[in-house]
This record gives sequence, structure tokens and C-alpha cells, in this order.
Amino acid sequence: MIEFKNSENLNKWSKAQREKHLKIGFVPTMGALHEGHISLIEAAKTENDLVICSIFVNPTQFNEQEDFDKYPITIEKDKDLLFQAGCHVVFIPDVANIYPSSTAFDLEIDLGNIANVLEGAHRPGHFEGVMQVVKRLLEIVEPNVLYLGKKDYQQYLILKKMVSFYQFDIEVKQCPIVREPDGLAMSSRNLRLKPVERNAAVQLSKALFAIQSDQFSSSPKALSEKFTANLNANPLIDVEYLEIVSAESLGKIDDWKDSESAVACIAAKVGSIRLIDNVTIY
Ligand code: PAJ
Repeated sequence: MIEFKNSENLNKWSKAQREKHLKIGFVPTMGALHEGHISLIEAAKTENDLVICSIFVNPTQFNEQEDFDKYPITIEKDKDLLFQAGCHVVFIPDVANIYPSSTAFDLEIDLGNIANVLEGAHRPGHFEGVMQVVKRLLEIVEPNVLYLGKKDYQQYLILKKMVSFYQFDIEVKQCPIVREPDGLAMSSRNLRLKPVERNAAVQLSKALFAIQSDQFSSSPKALSEKFTANLNANPLIDVEYLEIVSAESLGKIDDWKDSESAVACIAAKVGSIRLIDNVTIY
């Protein structure tokens, strides 16, 4: 596995591979890798000649300084996992390399509703930071295919729109959520849960799956209110939102018959750790 720290060197290398008509799959991450991330590497491996993974804890997408400061960093373990998974290149830039002061940051893109609801409403500036860094990474890596997880469903929708807005010649693919055996969605932040919080955290996915199986028993609003109240009854859990929305527009669904697709999305603090998850209802 080749390791790049410098964006210009990686860009030169990547261009040389493209000239040889080799197909490049790209998996951007913030490290603290787990099986969810590795599933993206594996998908990229089966569909491309080369796989590039980036590890960069992007400061501009954190709306809470403490969350950024405490983001787990496990670089050596990450490199081992990537090597074992057969990843060809790991890109580990520093902040100055990704954000040289000369780089302009105005993103002239307005995504409307899909960026303003759910995470957009609760984490001001988050998606601007995500778009900023992914745009920059795509310009450096110049991949053929970008791999994203459904775990961050709204991020996937937003980045897919961003890729088309800037007319990048890049295909965007979504990979399924990898879960722990009890159903908790794998997340780098799970590492920060205390044992009692880890036990409570499984209630989030349980609620989403219960909504999936209870669908149509009551209105979307009644279901989300019922499960929000159930979850909040646990003193370790504080639900920020639990919404049933259209899978395309992310608009709230008032009546099942009004939408051709539905996904239940949750964000909740378990102890002090903020977790997100989602389940497709139909
Ligand atoms: P990070 O949280 O490290 O996630 C990197 C990629 O792994 C994302 O596409 C995410 O959806 C996917 N992923 C995380 N957990 C997963 C799981 N349990 N199953 C499947 N896929 C999973 O998302 C980011 O980093 C950043 O916002 C980034 C896009 C790298 C920009 O900084």
C-alpha cells in the first residue's frame, strides 16, 4: 500500500494511473476505521483497478469543538485494516495541505431543503464543511467512482448533488449500513461510548426497525412521537430528531400515501456522544 501525505504528489500519481486507463475508486473517511468503512473499500476493490482511501479529520465540518478534539485517531490500526483489505493507496494529508490559505472556499451551491433539514437543521455549517472537503479531495484524487455509506444518508444525497452541480465526471455509489450483531450501526464514535451507554445505544436501531415493522399501524407523526418518547424515557438517551421523510427530497411525510418512499432518520445523544442512524421503510 502506498502512503501519500502531499496532495500534489497524489494528484500526479492519480493522473498517471488515469492515463493508463486504470479505474480508480475513492473512499473518503475521517479514520478510526471499522467494518463499515472496510465494506466501502471492498466494494471499491471489486469494481475498480485501484482503491484510494483518505483519512482526514476535517475541522470545518465539526460544529462542536469538543467533538472535533475528541474524535478518535487510530492511524496505525487504520493502515493495518486498509492493507489487509487490499487498499492500494492511503492519503493522510494535514490541514495545511487540504486548506492552503490561497484556496477559495465559497461554495456557490444551494441545495435547498435536503441540506436544511435533519443534520442540516441541527448541525449548522456541517454540510458546508463536508462539501468543502469532499470537493477538494475529489479535485486531488480525481477518481472514477466515489463510495459513500448509507449510514450518512443525507450526506450521500448532498454529495451526489454536489458532484453533479460541479460536473465532476465521477459516479457516486452508496453502500449499505454495516451493523454490530445487536443492530447498532457501526460508527467511529461508538468507541467513545461507556459500557452502559453502549448498551443503551442499541435502542436507537431497535426503534428504527420497530417503526419499519409497525409502518401503517399509525401515521408517520404518531410513530415518530411514540418512539421518541420511548427512547427519551431512558435517562441516557436524548433524541434530537426522529423523523420519517421522503428518501428523495427528505421532506417530512404527514401521510404514508403522499410519498413513494420513506426513510426513518434519527440523531440522538447517548450520554454525551451524538449518534445517527436510518432505516428505509419502503
Ligand atoms: P466517516 O464518518 O469516517 O465515514 C466515511 C464513510 O464511511 C462515509 O461514507 C460513511 O457513510 C461510511 N460509513 C460510516 N459508518 C458506516 C457503516 N456503519 N456502514 C457503512 N458505511 C459507513 O462521513 C465522513 O467520514 C466524512 O463526512 C467525510 C465524507 C469523509 C468528509 O469528511
